[in-house]
Amino acid sequence: MSEALKQVARFLVGRYRALRPQRLRFRGAFASYEEAKAHVRSGLLAGYDHDAVTEVSKELMQQVPLWDYPILYWLLRLAPETKRLIDAGGHIGVKYRAFGPYLDLQRLDWIVYDLPAEVRAGRAQKRPQDSTLSFVDRLEEAPPADILLVSGLMPYFDGPLTALVRRLQTPPRYILLNKVVTRDGPTLVTLENFGMSEVPYQIRNEAEVPAALETLGYDIVDRWTIDSLTHRIQTRPELGRAIYRGYVARRRDAAAG
Ligand SMILES: C[S@@+](CC[C@H](N)C(=O)[O-])C[C@H]1O[C@@H](n2cnc3c(N)ncnc32)[C@H](O)[C@@H]1O
Repeated sequence: MSEALKQVARFLVGRYRALRPQRLRFRGAFASYEEAKAHVRSGLLAGYDHDAVTEVSKELMQQVPLWDYPILYWLLRLAPETKRLIDAGGHIGVKYRAFGPYLDLQRLDWIVYDLPAEVRAGRAQKRPQDSTLSFVDRLEEAPPADILLVSGLMPYFDGPLTALVRRLQTPPRYILLNKVVTRDGPTLVTLENFGMSEVPYQIRNEAEVPAALETLGYDIVDRWTIDSLTHRIQTRPELGRAIYRGYVARRRDAAAG
């Protein structure tokens, strides 16, 4: 089949799937976060910042899937020079819990930055052994850190990476990013189905995050793609594949680790 015919077939399949949105994980393609939010189905919550949403995928996120191993590798490699880490989009501390068996967390001040609902849940669910885990819902309040971990946040963050990093008191020596969702085309926003809520989900142009790191004064020292997570928006498959990527970036004026 020619590529043009395949595109027509994808378009028609997408329109058919759109008839039953409740069955789909991703639907729609919008020009902005606000536009996506305005299209949340009536009767559903919009976005992540709700107490009920804090339970979605919580157990899953506390595991260590294959795509977390590059992050673990770099956290272990940088451990001798790391006293404090800011975990942006860290939820209730899911990666603190997941990485606990592999890292010496007692030596690491681990600060989760997240939305108020997740921070409330995280504080309430803190266990006695989580002594080095703390939470902030304003990034500006986090003290200077050696590492900024941004795992799984970029699809949900309404804005560029530069805006996130510039809210920090001091730029960290390293930025570790995972599950940045990208495409070969302009950035778009789809809606992810969480059951009780629909959440705007950014699929960014593949050059956006590397360009942001360059602007912020960082060199990319490692990068990977997570092929097993590749997907298409179910109602808009003709828009191409969403590719998940990870990056490790070092501040240009920082000594090599
Ligand atoms: C998929 S979870 C990622 C959890 C974990 N870091 C991981 O890699 O599995 C995305 C997290 O980003 C948070 N989030 C969404 N928008 C945010 C924002 N504007 N600022 C801070 N956190 C946000 C959500 O509340 C959620 O905890």
